[in-house]
Amino acid sequence: MNTILVTGGAGYIGSHTCIKLLEAGYEIVVVDNFSNSKPESLKRVRHISGKDFKSYQVNICDKIGLTKVFEKNKIDAVIHFAGYKAVGESVEKPLMYYENNIYGTLVLCDVMRKAGTKNIVFSSSATVYGLNENVPFVEDYPTSATNPYGKTKLFIEEILSDLKVADPDWNVTLLRYFNPVGAHPSGLIGEDPNGIPNNLMPFISQVAVARLKELKVFGHDYPTPDGTGVRDYIHVMDLADGHVKALQGPVQKEGAAIYNLGTGKGNSVLDVVKAFEKENKIKIPYILVDRRPGDIASSYADASKARKILKWEARYTLEDMVRDSWNWQSKNPKGYA
Ligand code: WQD
Repeated sequence: MNTILVTGGAGYIGSHTCIKLLEAGYEIVVVDNFSNSKPESLKRVRHISGKDFKSYQVNICDKIGLTKVFEKNKIDAVIHFAGYKAVGESVEKPLMYYENNIYGTLVLCDVMRKAGTKNIVFSSSATVYGLNENVPFVEDYPTSATNPYGKTKLFIEEILSDLKVADPDWNVTLLRYFNPVGAHPSGLIGEDPNGIPNNLMPFISQVAVARLKELKVFGHDYPTPDGTGVRDYIHVMDLADGHVKALQGPVQKEGAAIYNLGTGKGNSVLDVVKAFEKENKIKIPYILVDRRPGDIASSYADASKARKILKWEARYTLEDMVRDSWNWQSKNPKGYA
């Protein structure tokens, strides 16, 4: 029986991935410091899956605490979600982001090495494609980053790639997520950002549940079909499935294995608003405002590599995404609070 350590397992993508791992028959161990998540999400993962698992409140920068987890559990592989993820906050507090995300990953890798665990799946992001304009993005495109959050993803990809070169016994998989949205169909777990949401879908959901007054559409003069930003929205359940397929995928001998996890389709901000309104029969008031600094016009994946090698592809539609987002938010107007 394989035991998977899930860092950040109480978080949005982490909790959904825990469910898929349990359903696939894995044992899991969760490590989370609950800085951007709640223990309640793990209670609900146990309820949904009908399975129990160990969880530890440990910061990944805490080498002693993390070592204890590996001493108490024989870990076969790690899925590494834990990290700060707010672009704007990273610009204001770069050192906090570099310490937590990068130093935390260095501590994790050192503890793994000492425990003899050399399989890691890392939660990376399409943000590493930087200001590339030639969509769809392919894994061998040049990478760059324009903010400290994106730089931490980029630097960690480089660190793990160098680790693989130095010690080929490591099995390193880098998953570049596009835009994760939606929630488990039960509506029991979902996205519950701290404070005012930065991301589009949780912002729309909070307008729908009257926690926020109206959506500001950032930019309507982009070179896109309707002038608003185009992104590759992917249902979090598809994303979770991609992690299970990555664990089961072939071991890449040379270098880190990099996969885009996206649908391969782009939708604009107004496409998402209209789909949300139509599917949920709710009006979403919005105003068109200036572009958000740092945003690019279009981002969507070439998802063929994951389809070919991992036998994975996204199945949920935009309608599923907006319906499940609303199902979660309407059942949990204040998130896990
Ligand atoms: C999507 C679109 C906005 C909010 C970022 C990170 C990425 C990933 C997901 C972190 C854009 C527009 C948004 C709003 C809007 N990781 N928008 N009004 O910027 O594509 O990606 O989050 O979680 O690494 O870079 O996602 O959801 O913020 O924006 O008009 O209130 O919606 O301009 O076109 P983004 P997003």
